[in-house]
Amino acid sequence: MNQNELKRAAARAALDELVDGAIAGVGSGSTVDMFIDELGARRARIAGAVSSSERSSARLRANGIEVLDLNRVLAEGRDIPVYVDGADEIDGALRMIKGGGGALTREKIVATACGRFVCIVDASKCVERLGRFPLPVEVIPMARELVASRLRSLGGRPALREGFVTDNGNQILDVAGLELDDPVAFESEVNQWPGVVTVGLFARSGADVVIIASPSGIERRTASGARG
Ligand code: 5RP
Repeated sequence: MNQNELKRAAARAALDELVDGAIAGVGSGSTVDMFIDELGARRARIAGAVSSSERSSARLRANGIEVLDLNRVLAEGRDIPVYVDGADEIDGALRMIKGGGGALTREKIVATACGRFVCIVDASKCVERLGRFPLPVEVIPMARELVASRLRSLGGRPALREGFVTDNGNQILDVAGLELDDPVAFESEVNQWPGVVTVGLFARSGADVVIIASPSGIERRTASGARG
């Protein structure tokens, strides 16, 4: 199986995690694109979706799925029991690096508003230790150099993602070379720097379950370490 086939297998397996009749939280990326296409064929099962990017919103609509406004859903007291999203890296404690597609801020917002985070990946995304994938950090443009110099002082090598503007009108620094020995502490520290919108570490609050597709099949792991 090639990587795209594995992504599709993980995406299809995530359908079993949905709650029938409920609103679905939907992330971003190529694996999620496949999830959206699978969901489109079963759209009667859900009461619409809350989306984490303009890209996913367009694809949801193209699949006949209503995209709901997060503020409105929450103001109406409606529940979003499950959030499905991909990752660039995920470790054994289900902590993730996300933001390869640049949607990290809205992903963190929607994930926080939802119940369970279901991460869908092919096995190449599973790592012992986070940090090989350059860490995306969304920054307010005027703070770019301020944030970059602080990241350098932590040993990182930040690079501006050229020609890219986030859905929120900001820029992304992709930071290579970081030693993420304590991802929770790192996320907390960088999050509070002036000018940082979001750091692409999802460590303080990681996934609840990861669905991993490999040539030998589908494996589900939970944050408590259970496998199935
Ligand atoms: C987008 C993300 C994606 O979930 C992540 O980049 C994985 O993408 P893909 O499924 O294309 O490998 O965080 O901001």
